[in-house]
Amino acid sequence: MSIIVLNDIVKYYEKGSKTNIFYALRGIDLTIDKGEMVAIMGTSGSGKTTLLNILGMLDNPCDGEYVLDGQTIKNLKGKDICKLRNKKLGFVVQNFALLDNTSVYDNIAIPLEYAKVDKKQRRILITSMLKKLGIEDKIYDKPKNLSGGQCQRVAIARALVNNPDIILADEPTGALDKNTTKEILEIFKNLNLEGKTIIIVTHDENVAKECDRIIRIEDGLLI
Ligand SMILES: Nc1ncnc2c1ncn2[C@@H]1O[C@H](COP(=O)(O)OP(=O)(O)OP(=O)(O)O)[C@@H](O)[C@H]1O
Ligand SMILES: [Mg+2]
Repeated sequence: MSIIVLNDIVKYYEKGSKTNIFYALRGIDLTIDKGEMVAIMGTSGSGKTTLLNILGMLDNPCDGEYVLDGQTIKNLKGKDICKLRNKKLGFVVQNFALLDNTSVYDNIAIPLEYAKVDKKQRRILITSMLKKLGIEDKIYDKPKNLSGGQCQRVAIARALVNNPDIILADEPTGALDKNTTKEILEIFKNLNLEGKTIIIVTHDENVAKECDRIIRIEDGLLI
């Protein structure tokens, strides 16, 4: 069963004037099944993050249709989009985007606060997530004092703590060495075995070949 359907998705940016338009996505058709693990590959500037942001409902397409788990996004109100995003999607952004001076605990608590999870339940969820990712001893440390691999784990923990069906990860191993990359990839593979749908943007062929399918994007078009 498909969990994500994109029909002819277009994204353009106006550069200063209405006549100077840059097309980042030029008509993307894509279907992803529930439980699939998919890699998105393409050169720098090809549109990978733009595509992922649209999949994550962090950005709106200019044209085309996005159907997420049977719901057409265009027909939803802002409030319902937030709810849907919070419930269904976990996002691991490019370069972690952690609050550097805020503890690991508080970083991971952010999506739970949005979801109005009470404090006691928050603690249970955060502790178990940190255990799962093997960084429970870093719970009160600040990201600025952690290694790249540890920060990546915190970013993954934050994306997962709401137990989303779909995990979107933008270059989750981009800044990591070979061994840490393998460990992070293992985490994603285990989540996939648990039934999560996983979409990973990567430049690394070794990461991509561990996925069920590789999607290649060039100049805003799938090839
Ligand atoms: N807000 C914006 N305004 C104008 N142009 C943009 C904007 N965001 C992205 N672009 C352009 O859209 C194109 C695709 O950008 P995108 O970030 O999706 O690339 P990418 O494939 O993720 O690249 P990388 O591998 O370097 O992360 C680029 O040419 C970029 O300059
Ligand atoms: Mg990018």
